[in-house]
Amino acid sequence: MSATPNSLFRHYLDSLIQQGTTRASLTDEARNVLRTWYVAARQGGRPAASASASPKPPPLQTSAPAPAEMPEPPELLPQSGEPASSITLPEGTMEDKLQYLRHLAQNWKPARELNSLRDTMVFATGNPHTKLMLIGEAPGYYEEVQQEPFVGRAGEKLNQILRAMGLSRDMVYISNIVKFRPALPNQRTNNRAPTPEEIEACLPIIMHEIRVIQPKMIIALGGTAAVGLLGEQGSVSSMRGRFHDLNGIPVRVTYHPSYLLRSDSPREKRKVWEDMLAVMERLEMPISEKQRGYFLPRE
Ligand code: URA
Repeated sequence: MSATPNSLFRHYLDSLIQQGTTRASLTDEARNVLRTWYVAARQGGRPAASASASPKPPPLQTSAPAPAEMPEPPELLPQSGEPASSITLPEGTMEDKLQYLRHLAQNWKPARELNSLRDTMVFATGNPHTKLMLIGEAPGYYEEVQQEPFVGRAGEKLNQILRAMGLSRDMVYISNIVKFRPALPNQRTNNRAPTPEEIEACLPIIMHEIRVIQPKMIIALGGTAAVGLLGEQGSVSSMRGRFHDLNGIPVRVTYHPSYLLRSDSPREKRKVWEDMLAVMERLEMPISEKQRGYFLPRE
């Protein structure tokens, strides 16, 4: 039987144990690689792996110092962040690649086979030639009707946030981690958040969108998007306030715009706004004194 990345990795862990290593923690990069394997295993596939094309996995941080003869980690591993799927992007422009992904998403079997998502596919909107990508969880009723992300009330709130930043929808790229509206019995305008299974099924599409767009910054809108993208467990409040890393791209987690529809005190608005200021600073966008002071308590 040929060695798989998983069996090689297990072998690598065994060799660490034999050398007396009792503890290993994961770097963010390693966690991303393991997540792609996990997703592939759940999909019945295996990560694209070729000895020549794939770099070594990110090393685990072990509690024992690495001995000189410590074996090199296995070579047969996916590119860091390579979504574990059989997607091969075509040659061509960014638009060609996105068109291909849009078509693929429409018939995406892992999502379709769940039978828990509705039929209409909602892909993305905005400008792919952007530095800033915003990712939400899944389309709702209005998004499904218009086949465009963030066009309902949460979308209006998002537009306000973008305007406050000096941006508009056509200056950024807006997408969702799940491309179909999650289904409910007797569903009318009511929506639900996607399940981890639904997120996992759609993850390869959004990961490839990120790969095509190559934004300088991602904003994860809400906990569902953040957990799905980063593969970390946690609440928005525990994840916001700092930059995370997704294959070299900084990710800022903030509250979903619909949270601000429910909790619109200046204090909550300021939290989201501080995340946006951090994004603007990191992208070296101009920030006026007035912008810096939005939603601060008046003296
Ligand atoms: N909420 C989301 O997360 N995405 C949308 O497109 C709309 C609402």
